[in-house]
Amino acid sequence: MPAVVVIGLQWGDEGKGKVVDFISERADLAVRYQGGANAGHTVVLNGRTYRFHHLPVAALRGKHVCLASGMVIDPMKLLEELESLYKEGIRPRLTIDGRAHIVLDIHKMLDEAEESSGKGVGTTKRGIGPAYAYKSARVGIRFSDLAEIELIKPRLKKAIDMTRALLSGVYNMNAELDVERAIQFLREVASRLGRHVGDVSLLVNETLDRGGLVILEGAQGTLLDIDHGTYPFVTSSNTTAGAACNSVGMGPKKVDEVIGVTKAYTTRVGKGPFPTEMDEPVASMVRERGREYGTTTGRPRRVGWFDAVAVRYSIMLNGVTSIAITKADCLAGIDPIKVCLAYEFNGQEIKSFPDSPQVLERCKPVYVELDGWEALSEGEKLAALRGNFDALPRQLRNYIEFLEKLLVCPIKYVSIGAERYETIIR
Ligand code: IMP
Ligand code: MG
Repeated sequence: MPAVVVIGLQWGDEGKGKVVDFISERADLAVRYQGGANAGHTVVLNGRTYRFHHLPVAALRGKHVCLASGMVIDPMKLLEELESLYKEGIRPRLTIDGRAHIVLDIHKMLDEAEESSGKGVGTTKRGIGPAYAYKSARVGIRFSDLAEIELIKPRLKKAIDMTRALLSGVYNMNAELDVERAIQFLREVASRLGRHVGDVSLLVNETLDRGGLVILEGAQGTLLDIDHGTYPFVTSSNTTAGAACNSVGMGPKKVDEVIGVTKAYTTRVGKGPFPTEMDEPVASMVRERGREYGTTTGRPRRVGWFDAVAVRYSIMLNGVTSIAITKADCLAGIDPIKVCLAYEFNGQEIKSFPDSPQVLERCKPVYVELDGWEALSEGEKLAALRGNFDALPRQLRNYIEFLEKLLVCPIKYVSIGAERYETIIR
C-alpha cells in the first residue's frame, strides 16, 4: 500500500482539506509536512465546519496524525486545535517530529513588524517566515530540544539578541525580550506537548514497509513554494510533492500517487502578480458564492479565472498523477466562463510560467470563453454523486473535459459542494 501526497496546484485554499478528508478513510497515518499555523484547512461535515491549522484533517476521523520535521509549529495554537477536537470527543493519537521547529514570540514579532512596515508581502503574521529564516540560520529551537531546555540557552539567547537588533535596527522598535521568559514558555510547551514528541520519519517508513496507507498533506499551494513559486510573494517553505519526501524523511520512490487539487477558478491571498484576476462585478459574485475569505486571517481572497498556464506548471513540478477539481458548483450562473490558455508578453504568446514576478505582472492572459451552466437541481446532483457523470449539465461536463484535455492529466474527483459526500469520482 502506498504513500499518497495531496498538494495544491494554485496559491493555496484549493480545498485540499476537503479532498484529504474524502480520501483518508482507509489511512493508517496522516501527516502534515510543511508550513505551520499559516494554513487553514476547512472540512464541512453534516453541516458543521471544522478548521485546522496544524493538524492533518484526518484527525476528524480519529486517525493517528503526525506533524513532520518540515513544519514550524505554534505550540499554543496547536493546543487550541487539540482542545477543540477533545470537546467534540475526538482524541486522535498525535506524533510531533522532534526535528520540527517551534514558532516563538520573537518570530511572530518580526513577522508583525515587517507587515506593519507596509513593505511586507501580506503574510498571515503567524511568524512563519522568521521561523524558517532562523531555522536556516541555525538558531531555531526544535521539539527535541524540549527534553533538555537548559542546553539550548546559548542558542536561544543568540536568537533573542538577533531579534532585538533587527527590531531596533530595521524597524525602529524597542521590545522587551527576555531569555528567562522564553525558557519558561518552552518549559510549559514541554509539559503540555512533550509526550507527543516522537520520530515521524521512522513511523512513516515503518507503516509503509508494513503495507499501510500514508496520506501526506501539503499546505499552501505550489505557486507559494519558496523556490518555484512567485518569489518573493511566497510562503517560506517548499510546498511541492518532492518537498514532502524531504520534509517527512522518506525516499522519493515510496510515493505512489500525487493528487493535485485545484479550484474550478483561482484565488490568491496577499500581494503578488495574478494574471487572471477577475474584474467586478464577477469577482464579488464568485467571492460570495465560494465564501472566499481566509480561514486563518479572514481576509477577502482575490479571485480570478482558471489559469491553465499556472496549473500545468504545477502539474509538472509535482509529477501529479490525478487531479481533484473543487468548487465547480460556485461558478453556476456565470456566463461566459473564461479559461486562460496562454499569456501574451511583449507581443509574443508564451505557454510556460515565467520565473520572474516582474514578467508575470506584465503578462496578459489569452482567454477562451466557454458556456456557463445553471445551478444543479437536486436530481442532477444526486445522480452525479451516484456515479452518473452524464447527469451533470452539458456545459459543466464540457468545462471539466476541456480542462482535462488542456492539463493532460486525468481529473478523478469533482467536488460540487462543501460536504464530504458532495464529491463525484470519475
Ligand atoms: P506566510 O506563509 O504567512 O509567510 O505568508 C506568505 C504568503 O503566503 C502570503 O501571501 C499569504 O497570504 C500566503 N499564504 C500562507 N498560507 C496560506 C494559505 O494557507 N492559503 C493561502 N495563502 C497562504
Ligand atoms: Mg486555506
